[in-house]
Amino acid sequence: MAATTIEPVVLELDRLEQMAESGYYNPYTMFDWPESIEPGMPWMSESLTTLAGTPMWDELTREQQIELTKYEAINFFSLNIHGIRELMSEVVMRIHERTYANVSEFLHHFIGEENEHMWFFAQFCLRYGGKLYPAQPTLKADSVDHLSEVAREMIVFARILIFEEIVDYYNAHMATDQTLPHIAREINRVHHQDESRHVAFGRMIFVKLLEQVAKRDPDEVPVVAEYLENYLQYSIGTLYNPAAYRDAGIPDALALRRRALAHPARIEAHDQVLKRTRKFLTKSGVGREVIKS
Ligand SMILES: [Fe+2]
Ligand SMILES: [Fe+2]
Repeated sequence: MAATTIEPVVLELDRLEQMAESGYYNPYTMFDWPESIEPGMPWMSESLTTLAGTPMWDELTREQQIELTKYEAINFFSLNIHGIRELMSEVVMRIHERTYANVSEFLHHFIGEENEHMWFFAQFCLRYGGKLYPAQPTLKADSVDHLSEVAREMIVFARILIFEEIVDYYNAHMATDQTLPHIAREINRVHHQDESRHVAFGRMIFVKLLEQVAKRDPDEVPVVAEYLENYLQYSIGTLYNPAAYRDAGIPDALALRRRALAHPARIEAHDQVLKRTRKFLTKSGVGREVIKS
């Protein structure tokens, strides 16, 4: 896996490293975990559920709506856990490679913080939901086999960045949603704080590696753009989990998932979630408009 043909990545990270140090907290003592969550409260913002804005939401009983917020919160936190674990393991493998010597200090912060995020997300799921959802077996991100070594390297960090930006959209909203239980708000707030540094770093390293891709072969740029667009769509799809619908007592989970994903109100919602990331990708030269048909 050694990234032999990748040039060293040099970034100015002093400010982000200082922020990571000064904002350091003990995740194991900082949350006040209640015995249970008050009945009747949504665990996830209603406007962020996968049925929000559609007639499918209105057709649910109030009880089913609350149950859906509960299981979609568990799904959202479970996605975080699986996503972090997979992506963090890629970073761990690279931390002492020559390519990353200059950013190694920041990567240590990143790994430490992500380990803590996995812990508090899992605490929430296990304490209040009694489980984590496994990754949906039918959903897989595209293979990177057709890409050059440097493009594959870039994709590792691009996937982290995209995942973090999508999650952060949800975290930022829920951090201040007063309808949520305090503990749910807190987890979203604390995660949002750490992720603002990760996203800043992710964008910087993405740009550097993309430069190397374009320099080696400009024709690979649209191929990478297509991969990234598909990855955005894949990531959105993971939020729609039939198991969460079933747990909320909603019948025909698979058909519901299909209907919801294709509903105009949801397509509009996806565009909102992805707006910031798409703007960044376009500015970087790998937006949807460069994809060759
Ligand atoms: Fe995280
Ligand atoms: Fe992160």
